[in-house]
Amino acid sequence: MGTVISNERLTDGVYHLNVEGDYGGRIGQFYMLRAWGAYPILSRPVSIHAVNDNGIEFLYHVVGEGTELLSRLEQGDAIGLEGPFGNGFPEVEGRVALVGGGIGIAPLLYCARELPNCDVYLGFSREPFRTEEFRSHAAKLTVDVGGLILDSVDFSEYDHVFVCGPHPMLKAAQLKGISAESAGSKTNVYLSLENRMACGIGACLVCSVSCRDGQRKACTDGPVFLAEEVLFHD
Ligand code: FES
Repeated sequence: MGTVISNERLTDGVYHLNVEGDYGGRIGQFYMLRAWGAYPILSRPVSIHAVNDNGIEFLYHVVGEGTELLSRLEQGDAIGLEGPFGNGFPEVEGRVALVGGGIGIAPLLYCARELPNCDVYLGFSREPFRTEEFRSHAAKLTVDVGGLILDSVDFSEYDHVFVCGPHPMLKAAQLKGISAESAGSKTNVYLSLENRMACGIGACLVCSVSCRDGQRKACTDGPVFLAEEVLFHD
């Protein structure tokens, strides 16, 4: 159990949660959060936004009953945290771009802190949030509102591109990686999938991901996959 330090509404349906306790994890990993009894709502998977001296931070979007209950948490309330889970982003060297769309920026602040000199690209359909927190960690910060943030990124400039956002954005990043490769670029593109999850530990198959080598699980095999491994069906 952790204790809520703060749970601040940033913009429409987006909250920043800060929890006291001895928590950590690798970049791109997630925790299962629970602020209610055993039934009927499953714990919610939320990626690590940052780790600080007093605890751990998360960004989440209210999309259902569980996250709605999270949004009601107040300072001093108890919250259940299990984790960290998932593979996370790999340890890399070379030039790195972090590309996030909407709530998909959540895991990238931790990446920006751990990967000095990365370039950060953040896209929002409406009001941006948490952009200033990236500024002190990024070599270059690009923010787009209402457009397509991927249009701002030249993949061939980077050895590695980490992407997190809605599925259409991930699919577009995959295609962009393919065309960069066919133009001679050696860029590795990693996608963090925000698949629906239930158990978070590989037991229920709810988070199944179609990959070139068969079905895999976002919670234990991912949530981070090499873009070329993933098969998008829509
Ligand atoms: Fe249950 Fe992945 S969430 S197997």
